[in-house]
Amino acid sequence: MDEHRGGAEPHAAVRVDLRAIRDNVAELRARAGAAEVMAVVKGDAYGHGLVPAARAARAGGASWLGTAVLGEALALRAAGFGGRLMAWLSAPGEQWIDAIAADIDVSASAIWTVEEIADAARETGRMARLHLKVDTGLGRSGAPEADWPGLVDAALKAQAEGLVNVVGLWSHFAIADAPRHPTNTAQVAAFSQAVEIAQARGVRPEVRHLANSAATLMLPDTHFDLVRAGLAVYGLSPVPDVAAPADVGLRPAMSVRARLALVKRVPAGHGVSYGHFYVTDRETSLGLIPLGYADGVPRHGSGGDGGPGAPVLAGGRVRRIAGRVCMDQFVVDLGDDDVHAGDEVVLFGDAAAGEPTAQDWAEACRTISYEIVTRFAPRIPRTYVGWEDLR
Ligand SMILES: Cc1ncc(COP(=O)(O)O)c(C=O)c1O
Repeated sequence: MDEHRGGAEPHAAVRVDLRAIRDNVAELRARAGAAEVMAVVKGDAYGHGLVPAARAARAGGASWLGTAVLGEALALRAAGFGGRLMAWLSAPGEQWIDAIAADIDVSASAIWTVEEIADAARETGRMARLHLKVDTGLGRSGAPEADWPGLVDAALKAQAEGLVNVVGLWSHFAIADAPRHPTNTAQVAAFSQAVEIAQARGVRPEVRHLANSAATLMLPDTHFDLVRAGLAVYGLSPVPDVAAPADVGLRPAMSVRARLALVKRVPAGHGVSYGHFYVTDRETSLGLIPLGYADGVPRHGSGGDGGPGAPVLAGGRVRRIAGRVCMDQFVVDLGDDDVHAGDEVVLFGDAAAGEPTAQDWAEACRTISYEIVTRFAPRIPRTYVGWEDLR
């Protein structure tokens, strides 16, 4: 029988340090200068948990909270969040009435969206707070340059009827993670021109906003009145080729931890996991980690199947995943180290604690750290640290 160190803890947990989120937002506020900070909490706060992360962000001084889908903004209102909330992604037939009733700032990139919002405002008898989005080069949402004056005029018409208040003009960067890329300069110029056009036609915006995390940290000339920071709020670097989180005053909030489900000795030449993409080269101990792709561990993190395997801290040393990641479990090769079932392993966390990082995982899985933290499944319990320090 394998020795084990047990206890009543869950076999795996996503741990979120709310103080880190609070402090990261405070750091972003300091760097944003006169601009306000919107903490972007879409995607369940990048996997950190919508309500706890939003509370920590507010404690750090985020005067705005932003989501993509309206459902998340409504969930924040329902949880008691006052203050400015913005939801920017919509589809035809959106629940505009709910948005207006909950006093959520909304966005339009097309005239038909302005018309839907105006109709809902007429029905509720309340004015909608509207941000107009221009495509300055991302090629995703936002009105193309040619459609911008028409969109502005449609919004001003609805404003004249007392149905909307055009409070924001905004856009989004395509390549801010490469701060010196000429596209950034071109987008700032296009945005400034779009703002001038809107102002010349009569818009008096409360906030002009363009910067994401990368631009907040690296491109101070893009801050305008409000920055929309997501990844940096959670303590990850949006410019991993330029700066690690600690270099820009951030610390990661999330760590993913598990307890070894089994440790066993196997001889040399033993195939490991489906497909036998890893074969032991000596007698060794294998450690079984009870997390898999159903939990959000990317199968691209497999070792020996085209890549070196994502890193895991186990028994005081960083090791690489051995063989394929399965639906609920994967394996690491522990050698002859004194490691036991029940011992804690860390998939990623804080480099300052010697733990692999979400960025390390992103590189091993050929993706971005955004995707690594966002994908951990609800079936893994979230453990929050630092609630008591939020006020
Ligand atoms: C419109 C918009 N603004 C801001 C952000 C935040 O970006 P980041 O996480 O890079 O700060 C996002 C996220 O992708 C976004 O879609």
